[in-house]
Amino acid sequence: MAQVVATSAQGPSPKQEIENGYCFFKGQIVPLADANVNISTHALNYGTGCFEGIRAYWNEEQEQLYIMKGLEHYQRLLKSCKILKIQCPYTAQQLLDYTVEILAKNQYRQNVYIRPLAFKASQVIKVTLSGLRDEVAIFAVPMGDYVKTEGLSAVVSNWQRVSDNIIPSRAKVTGGYINAALANDAATTDGYDEAIMLSTDGQVSEASSANFFIVREGTLVTTPITSDILEGITRRAVLQLADALGIPYEVRAIDRTELYVADEMFLAGTGAQIASITSVDRRPVGDGTTGPITEQLQALYGRAVRGQDERYRDWLTPVYGE
Ligand SMILES: Cc1ncc(COP(=O)(O)O)c(C=O)c1O
Repeated sequence: MAQVVATSAQGPSPKQEIENGYCFFKGQIVPLADANVNISTHALNYGTGCFEGIRAYWNEEQEQLYIMKGLEHYQRLLKSCKILKIQCPYTAQQLLDYTVEILAKNQYRQNVYIRPLAFKASQVIKVTLSGLRDEVAIFAVPMGDYVKTEGLSAVVSNWQRVSDNIIPSRAKVTGGYINAALANDAATTDGYDEAIMLSTDGQVSEASSANFFIVREGTLVTTPITSDILEGITRRAVLQLADALGIPYEVRAIDRTELYVADEMFLAGTGAQIASITSVDRRPVGDGTTGPITEQLQALYGRAVRGQDERYRDWLTPVYGE
């Protein structure tokens, strides 16, 4: 039977209220309703937490739920913890094992978004990173597309990306997402789907919550990890897929006006997946439709994350016994 190629993920909106299910909190699997923090919690007051966003894709044919690059996400969480001086008592593998346990206990048979969170849990006033109690939690929720995967309209934001010596983008820090929220909210209020953010040096950094790619004359281009971006796991996956497809790529700074002469443009991120941008600042990108390189990458990514391509099996952790 022909395998279904999906670029978009079926499921509820990311704006649904999260109420049900089991989560990991204070070292145990507990109902989400019992996993609460006090209003005086440090992270709630000062944004002193870090987090991850991981997807698990449901494969109906195989009746399997695949966690996408779980270990890499937890390794990045531990690096964010290091930057924020958060003591995480678990290894990346242990956190992944708890995630499998949560998803299985919730008996999910659909696409899921997983949110690990490590934060300063002390109930104190002092603004610091040292000498505080830390906590680690993981919850999950059924979720479809975060944004549509075809035909997004983007705008160059007048909110600048936070730079490494202000709030490091490399660490997925809860407080840092104010920067993303301001840019995204301004863009969507003005009728765009997404904001492209410039670094303080005026060059392209990334989108509000996804990494950013353009195609120029057949070459894929993305910004380097020194451009105040989150070191994206999907970004790395896209480069790996480009290699397999024989698409040449460059990792280099992108000038603002390159956006106006690019042939193709897309977002890459766990939430966004691979989502084509077909207009920027109300100008069409290329011919104003999803381009052929973006389409090829979307199709291969869609198969890889659902366990439909053996070459990428090592990206995936199955939730149910094989
Ligand atoms: C600011 C930002 N950049 C990039 C990404 C993409 O990273 P990843 O592919 O690891 O999800 C995200 C999260 O999805 C993000 O929030």
